[in-house]
Amino acid sequence: MSSVSEKDHEVLDSFDYGDDVSIIDRSEIVDWSTIIIKIFLGLLFIGFASGCIIYSVITSEEYTHPASTNSSFFVFDVSQHCDNGTLTWTNRTGSFNDYDRVTTGISWLQDSQRKRIYHRIGIAKDNKDWKITHYVFVNHTFFVDRNGCNKIDYGYDEYLRRLGFQKIRMQREEYFTIEEGESVKVNYFEGEPSLDIQIEGIHPNLVRAFTSPDNKFTYAWEYIFPQTAESTGLFRKDYWYPEMKPGVDDEGVFEELPSSCYKQS
Ligand SMILES: *[C@@H]1O[C@H](CO)[C@@H](O)[C@H](O)[C@H]1NC(C)=O
Ligand SMILES: *[C@@H]1O[C@H](CO)[C@@H](O)[C@H](O)[C@H]1NC(C)=O
Ligand SMILES: *[C@@H]1O[C@H](CO)[C@@H](O)[C@H](O)[C@H]1NC(C)=O
Ligand SMILES: *[C@@H]1O[C@H](CO)[C@@H](O)[C@H](O)[C@H]1NC(C)=O
Repeated sequence: MSSVSEKDHEVLDSFDYGDDVSIIDRSEIVDWSTIIIKIFLGLLFIGFASGCIIYSVITSEEYTHPASTNSSFFVFDVSQHCDNGTLTWTNRTGSFNDYDRVTTGISWLQDSQRKRIYHRIGIAKDNKDWKITHYVFVNHTFFVDRNGCNKIDYGYDEYLRRLGFQKIRMQREEYFTIEEGESVKVNYFEGEPSLDIQIEGIHPNLVRAFTSPDNKFTYAWEYIFPQTAESTGLFRKDYWYPEMKPGVDDEGVFEELPSSCYKQS
């Protein structure tokens, strides 16, 4: 059949004489086969045009899709707060897949606008289990513990970088049991922290983070540490904030900075 080459020729024609469809109506003496061919070509052309429109709509949707997720990387520069999270150290015991755990209460208040963080480890009443409080400001940080105040000459951005949060990639959405009986949807991020990152003096192999679906706040992050020959020592360190909320609440905590901290500067 030669229909293929005929079609090619006719498609070319349809561009030149596209308006002829209306002229056909006015002429009395007609070649029906020409009319049918032209109607067919007209329909073909309409079909092609709507195909183009549909295609462009589909592709534009495909194009905007990554933008609406908006975060192939862990978004950690956010304002958020939680008074009652937990920090858990999980150690290998030396027996295969056997672990010891130590858990303590923590709080986290992060103000991305003013670039400051208040982070307290040990939140029981009367400072019973208090270990340390981090006061992070834009250009400097104070570590306050029972021995006093230590001024560190890096601030907010570097503090977060040292947590190994940079370029941690989105893996997928998940449902996540944050507390007994309460399941939430999260974005799950995972990656390898930059080689100079040390957590508890050890370079973690892996960082994982779990954020709200809109990336406005973080439910949890954790580090996984390499196995040693003795299979003892730190396996995982995880920060859980099941009650984390977006935004900042009581910024008065920054005023609790002991006066011994000021003397140093
Ligand atoms: C995407 O990210 C930009 C910049 O971080 C932000 O301004 C915008 O609101 C985000 N869009 C959505 C849909 O989250
Ligand atoms: C944590 O704090 C929030 C608000 O401050 C409170 O609603 C919640 O019950 C607390 N959860 C626990 C486990 O103490
Ligand atoms: C922090 O440091 C930057 C760069 O050195 C400087 O421009 C800025 O004024 C400092 N901010 C404060 C609050 O000291
Ligand atoms: C876990 O291992 C680390 C590193 O070896 C050690 O400093 C820490 O005391 C251990 N913690 C527990 C609860 O065994």
